[in-house]
Amino acid sequence: MQPTAADRFTFGLWTVGWQARDPFGDATRPALDPVESVHRLAALGAYGVTFHDDDLIPFGSTDGERDKHVARFKDALAETGLVVPMMTTNLFTHPVFKDGAFTSNDRAVRRFAIRKVVRNLDLAAELGAQTYVFWGGREGAESDGAKDVRAALDRYREAIDTLAAYVQERDYGIRFAIEPKPNEPRGDILLPTVGHALAFIAELAHADLVGVNPEVGHEQMAGLNFAAGIAQALWAGKLFHIDLNGQRGPKFDQDLVFGHGDLLNAFFLVDLLEHGAPGGGPAYDGPRHFDYKPARTEDIDGVWASAAANMRTYLLLRERAAAYRADPEVQEALAYSGVGALATPTLGEAESLDALLADRGAFEDFDPDVAGARGYGFVRLNQLAVEHLLGAR
Ligand code: GCO
Ligand code: MN
Ligand code: MN
Repeated sequence: MQPTAADRFTFGLWTVGWQARDPFGDATRPALDPVESVHRLAALGAYGVTFHDDDLIPFGSTDGERDKHVARFKDALAETGLVVPMMTTNLFTHPVFKDGAFTSNDRAVRRFAIRKVVRNLDLAAELGAQTYVFWGGREGAESDGAKDVRAALDRYREAIDTLAAYVQERDYGIRFAIEPKPNEPRGDILLPTVGHALAFIAELAHADLVGVNPEVGHEQMAGLNFAAGIAQALWAGKLFHIDLNGQRGPKFDQDLVFGHGDLLNAFFLVDLLEHGAPGGGPAYDGPRHFDYKPARTEDIDGVWASAAANMRTYLLLRERAAAYRADPEVQEALAYSGVGALATPTLGEAESLDALLADRGAFEDFDPDVAGARGYGFVRLNQLAVEHLLGAR
């Protein structure tokens, strides 16, 4: 269970680096040097790191300071072999973004936000990042009269399309991933769920360059089924990146260690990612990115233990999911439940609706009472999953 680079585990610098300041209390841990985080994560078996511009280069740094921060960081990457597959922008901490960035009611703020992203996109290309995440935490409102949502979506689209055109012109080879979240820090955030984000992406001029970066806890904050949302993102060909963590139901964003929330849904998520391609094999080949927060109660040793816990939990679930898939009783229960049969098209090959209308067996001679009496055995199937998860099989 020792993670290796081949597992493609990545961490945000802001995750292990979180000093555990919350709305009610001060920091409980000292600041971490990004260079130290790179070394510690490499030693734990991670593959890469991700970051917001301001995680590496404090907001307001001079060009000279900026160059120094980047140079030290690049040295650490070269020493450890860690890569930077994803980068993102902090468009939420500074008070200038209090009413949003791309969708602030203040046009000058919107223009500043696009400039801030462009500068960091240049660095992302330089560091070889393939994905650029857009989490619009401040894009939203607390009251319904405060934001013209249709105008805000126009401005959101304008920003994303403008930036997508920029990476295309520069041939940066970067794709965008929008990260939905229903609320926190804003009372209501635009693009609150995977479904909203997919619908928004369909309206973009550069839709091909834009996918989603769903986070476990964010969908679960909205009471939604994360594994099911990921399945729809995969179905749409839009799972460009993923934020793994844990959440216990609809409440504030907990950012727990992966698996430390809805463990059974995490099991089916890993099963989907690792074995969910049609015909088997991984359905997602991007980084397994952890966006969690080491609990405020942890000291610095606890930070690294919790980072390791994310990876170990993923590997354990991967192993459990493989055992579940290989179990003949599971295969039999799947067949009984008709899970595989759903892949068969409802109409026959080249069958027309007229042919279906002419098929008496489909309607006139079909006995709904007989079909309605059938059991599907889903509970047995689920119990088999629980038993594999518990190591009982
Ligand atoms: C959150 C978000 C962020 C984003 C990050 C990258 O709820 O705070 O998950 O951690 O993932 O800003 O865009
Ligand atoms: Mn979160
Ligand atoms: Mn996230």
